[in-house]
Amino acid sequence: MDDRDSPAVRRRDLLGLSAAALAGAATVTAPAAAAAPRAPEQEAEVTPPEDLMREHGVLKRLLLVYREGIRRIEGGERAPTQPLNAATRIIRGFIEDYHEHLEEKYVFPRLREVGRLTGTVSVLLLQHRRGRELTERILTATRHARGARAAPTLVADMAAFVRMYEPHEAREDTVVFPAFREVVPAKEFLRLAELFEDEEHRRFGPRGFEGVVDQVADIEKALGVYDLSRFTPAG
Ligand SMILES: [Fe+2]
Ligand SMILES: [Fe+2]
Repeated sequence: MDDRDSPAVRRRDLLGLSAAALAGAATVTAPAAAAAPRAPEQEAEVTPPEDLMREHGVLKRLLLVYREGIRRIEGGERAPTQPLNAATRIIRGFIEDYHEHLEEKYVFPRLREVGRLTGTVSVLLLQHRRGRELTERILTATRHARGARAAPTLVADMAAFVRMYEPHEAREDTVVFPAFREVVPAKEFLRLAELFEDEEHRRFGPRGFEGVVDQVADIEKALGVYDLSRFTPAG
C-alpha cells in the first residue's frame, strides 16, 4: 500500500553496503559507508539496530511522561491516572511485549553464542523482568480515575522504572547494539530487518511505529509536555 511494500531490492542494496562494511577491517567501516553513493529517490531501509533504537526513543518519551506524573503528584496535584495508564499500556504492549521480545529472541542469544557481553546481557534480562513487575503495579495503580489512594507506591514505582531504564537503554544503544551489529553476518541482518518490520506491522497495523508515536504524542499533549520549545532554557 505504500513504499514499504516494494523494498526487497532496496533492502538487498542496503545489505550489500552492510556486507561490504562488515567484510572490511573495522578501521574502514565508517568511511566506506559514508562514501557509498545513494540514489536520491531511494528511501533507506530501517536496519535492526536503528529499529530498536527508535523504539528506545518511544521509551524515552514515555519516561518523560512518568517524570511529569511524578512531578505533579509530588507537587500535591491529583495523579493524572488516565494519561499515565495510557503510557503504561504502551510500555506493556510496545516496549515489553514487542521491543524486549525482539531483544530476548534475536539480539541477546546471538551475543551469548559468541561469548560477548554475557554479564551485561544477564543484567539486562533481569531488568526486563523487574520492569514488567513495576509495569504490572503501575497499571493497577492507574486503572481508576481517582488514583490518589495509590499515589505513594505509584510514584516510587514510576521513579524506579525511570531510574532503571535510562541506563538500560543507553547501554543497549552504545554497547549492546553495536556488538550485535558486529557479530551478525550481512545476510542474516537482511533477514532480521524484514522480520522486524513484518512483526511491527503484524502487531501494530499498517502505520506500525508511526501509529505508536502518534499515541505517545497524544499522551504528551494531554499532560502539556508535547511542545518541544517548552524544554529550551531561556537565553
Ligand atoms: Fe532491553
Ligand atoms: Fe531495549
